[in-house]
Amino acid sequence: MKAYFLFSSKMSFIIGTIFYLSLSIFHLSGDAYDPVDVFSINCGSLGNSTDEGNRIWTGDINSELLLATEKASVAASALKQSPSANKIPYTTARLSYSNFTYSFPVTPGQKFIRLYFYPTSYEQGFDRSKAFFTVTSGIFTLLKDFNASLTADADDDPLHTIFREYIIYIDDGQRLNLTFSPSTIQSDLYAFINGMEILSLPNNQFYTDSQNQGMKFLGSISFYSIANNSALKTEYRLNLGGDVISPRDDTGLLRSWENDKKYVRTSSALPVDYGTDIKLSFTQVPNYTAPDTVYRTARSMGRNETLNKISNLTWEFSVDSGFDYMLRLHFCELIPDITQLSDRVFYIHIDDKLAEDHADVLQCSQQKGVPVYRDYAVPIFGNVKKYNLSLKLHPNPDIRKTAYFDAFLNGLEIFRISDPLSNSLAGPNPDPLSPTQVTPFMFRQPIQHSNKSKIMIICITIAGTGFFIILLFLIACFFNRQEKKVKDNESGEGLSVLPSCICRHFSIAEIRVATKDFNERFIIGNGGFGNVYKGFIDNASTPVAIKRLKQGSQQGAQEFITEIKILSQLRHLHLVSLIGFCNDENEMILVYEFVARGTLRDYLSSKNSQPLSWKQRLNICIGVAQGLDYLHTGAKYNIIHRDIKSTNILLDEQWVAKVSDFGFSKIGPSGISRSHISRVIKGSFGYLDPDYYTRQRLTLKSDVYAFGVVLLEVLCGLPPLLHTMDKSKICLAEWAQKCYREGIIDKMEDPFLKGIIVPECLKKFSEIAMNCLDDDGNQRPSMNEVVWGLEFAMQLQENGEQLDQFSSKVEVMERGGIGEEDNDDMSSSSLVVMFSDFNNSGVSMDSSASGERSSGNKETEIS
Ligand SMILES: *[C@@H]1O[C@H](CO)[C@@H](O)[C@H](O)[C@H]1NC(C)=O
Ligand SMILES: *[C@@H]1O[C@H](CO)[C@@H](O)[C@H](O)[C@H]1NC(C)=O
Ligand SMILES: *[C@@H]1O[C@H](CO)[C@@H](O)[C@H](O)[C@H]1NC(C)=O
Ligand SMILES: *[C@@H]1O[C@H](CO)[C@@H](O)[C@H](O)[C@H]1NC(C)=O
Ligand SMILES: *[C@@H]1O[C@H](CO)[C@@H](O)[C@H](O)[C@H]1NC(C)=O
Repeated sequence: MKAYFLFSSKMSFIIGTIFYLSLSIFHLSGDAYDPVDVFSINCGSLGNSTDEGNRIWTGDINSELLLATEKASVAASALKQSPSANKIPYTTARLSYSNFTYSFPVTPGQKFIRLYFYPTSYEQGFDRSKAFFTVTSGIFTLLKDFNASLTADADDDPLHTIFREYIIYIDDGQRLNLTFSPSTIQSDLYAFINGMEILSLPNNQFYTDSQNQGMKFLGSISFYSIANNSALKTEYRLNLGGDVISPRDDTGLLRSWENDKKYVRTSSALPVDYGTDIKLSFTQVPNYTAPDTVYRTARSMGRNETLNKISNLTWEFSVDSGFDYMLRLHFCELIPDITQLSDRVFYIHIDDKLAEDHADVLQCSQQKGVPVYRDYAVPIFGNVKKYNLSLKLHPNPDIRKTAYFDAFLNGLEIFRISDPLSNSLAGPNPDPLSPTQVTPFMFRQPIQHSNKSKIMIICITIAGTGFFIILLFLIACFFNRQEKKVKDNESGEGLSVLPSCICRHFSIAEIRVATKDFNERFIIGNGGFGNVYKGFIDNASTPVAIKRLKQGSQQGAQEFITEIKILSQLRHLHLVSLIGFCNDENEMILVYEFVARGTLRDYLSSKNSQPLSWKQRLNICIGVAQGLDYLHTGAKYNIIHRDIKSTNILLDEQWVAKVSDFGFSKIGPSGISRSHISRVIKGSFGYLDPDYYTRQRLTLKSDVYAFGVVLLEVLCGLPPLLHTMDKSKICLAEWAQKCYREGIIDKMEDPFLKGIIVPECLKKFSEIAMNCLDDDGNQRPSMNEVVWGLEFAMQLQENGEQLDQFSSKVEVMERGGIGEEDNDDMSSSSLVVMFSDFNNSGVSMDSSASGERSSGNKETEIS
């Protein structure tokens, strides 16, 4: 180690000020893929070094890739080296008690980021247990409050090194930055890194091509796509039934492929090796998809019909809950006896959800020896720290009697998809290891397929008797252990580590009972998304609102997931609470707390016999503003509601306002550089931020604008779209702005409130509304300022009410007089209020894009 370091020092003057080169350091001729960008960085060392696989790593000392930081980071060597650990890049590290960043000049496109950690004690007093840090790249959080020593100890890797692989997209002109930040919960924590690798990968190898409809989204009727605003973390990459494949034997992408022994749960499952004689032909997928060896080996059930009938070929993978996962299943049909379609047809279940009931590899590949793959996405909800994601294959018994009653798989890749709200890929730290660990059971060596029949029969006979009993025993042990783990988590730390996803999973049966089988009499609302029912759960004791999303709308499915994710992590007096959800039988159902009195709009309508008092209205506005302020700044993320309107504000028994309908919500900009998000326009007409409408600039201030319209509705008792005498339409906002400019704000008051609003309060209130409606989003106040302003308006009202009876009476008479005259000219009487149209327009816009909206619905034309 020392010797190496000395050698490197001598090299330093030769190298001088180096790097920032795109180093083509590991190129084996004949690779199917030749990456444009390749960086292999050996952190904490100087100059080039070569690892055991003949790969060259570049030191980061004096490298321009490492940005200068306030307090310098330290390059140091490991004090203790695990004898078997791969020496490069684990012998040296960069460590720091403050943040440090690497910035890589890369070409635009998708990149692998690979991180290598060896948590041990390092020179200069870096204690092993004090490595506790966060790693980010651009907007993505790769690791959060990562306890490196704990993670390494909990891992079953005897070398105690940690390897992580991510995929992110780098836009034109951007650099790929990696920032390491020690956690600040204690002052003596540090961040470190031993090695890094950045590598280009073929365009859309894992991301969804925009031409493509995406992959199956299990448990849902829609498709799932992975766009460039997502990042991936590799969870597992397996060569099933075969050997470990090292990076140098990959297709140029330098991936490692693991064996599946640790994950397969069916003891009778057979490794199959077809030998290297068979030529593969890559006609369906590119030749860099996976190395030939992946397709030349497989794990299959064997052909014992009796055994196969009662069991699935099962694998289990431990994953963090709270993320969506993508699974890529690699297949290649090579069995000589299989010659026709439907010869070997099987079911695929992922997380016990049906992915395929008729998987026929020959049908996908058209020919034998042609590799293919299929992708599936599956959401994993819940609050357990570790979740067992299962993959189960089973022959389909309904297909031809003579067929191969068998199922098989060649390769498998599992990716975690970044949380769309937090842009995070990070999970919680593991629990410290318990001594009673299940040791993986032994498997037989791969058999040669050429003399398969006899060996197979023998093996299967053994498998059929002894192994099956052992299997049952092991499965029992395994489930016991899992159950215990879940319980531990529920009672302990697990809940505090994950966001408070206290979301309940309802069965479709429970929902049917609650709604009397979706009886129409229980419908309390509807819209583009579907119906809302009132129902009772828990033995009819608790009323709930049950929102059943219409089947077949892809948009709805995305929003369904968004809403669960957002709502389950939010708790605020002024936000409607999500109680749970149901996604059985492809239903998308959300269960909310029941808010007794319905929408704010109902109580502002002149048709309502019991209009709200001014102070009730003020209180409601303050509540809504507080709820929105929490959404914008108080929660873990900046959340833009995107559809603030009076029909989305509900009132409970005590007239407490609750903001509902988060189906459109989007996570807001997290950095200064991304101060707006552009998306397809969504929201409801009459509330649309002009800034957003014309420039597709969605910001938190778009909600502020919509809230300004709500303030006007509350003040005027009018809907957001007004019908004038000549049948044209005008926005309430425009009309009110005109009144305000002309200094006749008291003309805007709801006739019911005449003489009740204290003038100072009216002035303050309308001023806030006007500020919210400023054309320039930047000039609008934050919701926090709005809360403050409304509370002040309430003060003015209360002070005013305490004034001398006489003086207020005079005021009332004066204002009343002017009001009557004007009423005849231009205000309430000249406006035909269109409640029903208003509702329809809101609904029709809910689910369609802006273009369709303006052509399809006449309500949507703006003047
Ligand atoms: C380090 O390796 C890179 C890539 O192989 C090469 O271009 C560079 O010249 C090497 N530097 C030294 C000092 O050997
Ligand atoms: C992979 O395919 C490309 C074209 O599709 C071809 O140029 C290349 O030679 C192939 N590489 C290997 C190693 O088969
Ligand atoms: C990466 O870091 C550089 C230098 O600090 C900065 O200019 C750039 O904006 C960063 N890029 C991203 C995508 O964060
Ligand atoms: C990290 O885990 C180690 C156990 O390996 C523990 O001693 C240490 O306190 C943990 N660090 C923090 C900051 O929790
Ligand atoms: C295989 O697993 C699926 C999904 O859990 C299940 O529905 C099916 O009954 C299982 N088949 C057998 C034979 O156990």
